[in-house]
Amino acid sequence: MPFITLEGIDGSGKSTVISLLKEKLIEKSLDFIVVREPGGTPIGEKIRTLLLDPRCSISPIEEVYLYASSRATLVREVILPALSSSKIIISERYLDSSLAYQGYGKGVPLSFIYEVNRPAIMDLYPDLTILLDIDPNICMERLKNKKKDRIELEGLNLQKRVRCGYLKLAEIYKERYLVVDATKEPQGIVEEVWERIRTLIR
Ligand code: TYD
Repeated sequence: MPFITLEGIDGSGKSTVISLLKEKLIEKSLDFIVVREPGGTPIGEKIRTLLLDPRCSISPIEEVYLYASSRATLVREVILPALSSSKIIISERYLDSSLAYQGYGKGVPLSFIYEVNRPAIMDLYPDLTILLDIDPNICMERLKNKKKDRIELEGLNLQKRVRCGYLKLAEIYKERYLVVDATKEPQGIVEEVWERIRTLIR
């Protein structure tokens, strides 16, 4: 069964799309799990708290290691076992988030990010990556009243670089990427995404 990742800048609507997608999978009686990064395991959730705490000062290189550690436990404890029991896996963020945020967003060399993550992901790349593409100005407006985490507090320019990074990744990995206009109605987005997921279900 497919391993699907959902990517996009902060405020692009990933959580809304995931909850609608869950309804769709339940309606179709499919066996699936949904996970999120950073997090998804007891250790991962602790790392998440550290990473998103605005009081922590963490350099981009340190971020690469921390996100990769969280990813390693998630892959080992949750994703690989679920794949072995033929479940569809949907992950809110994965390796491409590190490439987009720490790489394109903060200037860490992509080769270093791949190097650190290779043992963490144990050769597990997604079958499909859905990119919710949207202008960061719209997201800033959406997040206006939210209590911002450490990364969101870094502001608009980071989000602009991250968006460009994602679009570059979508070019590089054309065969596994589906770029969706995230200004569309969530229901319409889910229909578009579902059409693609259907083709991957055995
Ligand atoms: P996210 O779960 O997207 O935020 P929210 O709970 O606010 O919806 O938060 C994770 C943050 O971490 C987000 O700003 C993106 C960032 N991130 C990276 O910088 N690198 C990574 O590898 C990952 C997985 C996330």
